[in-house]
Amino acid sequence: MKKVMVINGPNLNLLGLREPDQYGHDTLDTVETLCMQAGDKLGVAVECRQSNHEGVLIDWIHEAGREVAAGAMLGVVMNPGAYTHTSVALHDAIKGASVPLIELHISNVHARESFRHHSFISPAARGIIVGLGVKGYAIAIDALVQVTSK
Ligand code: DQA
Repeated sequence: MKKVMVINGPNLNLLGLREPDQYGHDTLDTVETLCMQAGDKLGVAVECRQSNHEGVLIDWIHEAGREVAAGAMLGVVMNPGAYTHTSVALHDAIKGASVPLIELHISNVHARESFRHHSFISPAARGIIVGLGVKGYAIAIDALVQVTSK
């Protein structure tokens, strides 16, 4: 069974507590359960990770790239959190590792502050899901499976 890696970046461990008007009331645990259930339906194994540290996220993207190259993984669904708007290093990691990656945001970043309108991740992403709440994770996993299926 092929794998999908779901990576959540900084502050997403606070889901459920953090700005519920933007991000809803579901916790990260609930979101990860939703992701596993989406994987079960699609016949892929979903592995969920979260870190607040840019270098750790980069290492995981490199790891995913190796697994994709080995034919064991389809790619990554990633919510890069605020690193979306700051991290050239994550952009370079996604390109460098040649990993198919769906960028995901729970909130509609384009309807928020202007500093959230630019993404360093989008030019390196295979596709983008924005503003659909936590349901977006299941949609992103489905999309990744569809665009990477041969
Ligand atoms: C976010 C949007 C980012 O602007 C923000 O920094 C986050 C979460 C989202 O899921 O809507 O941490 O990626």
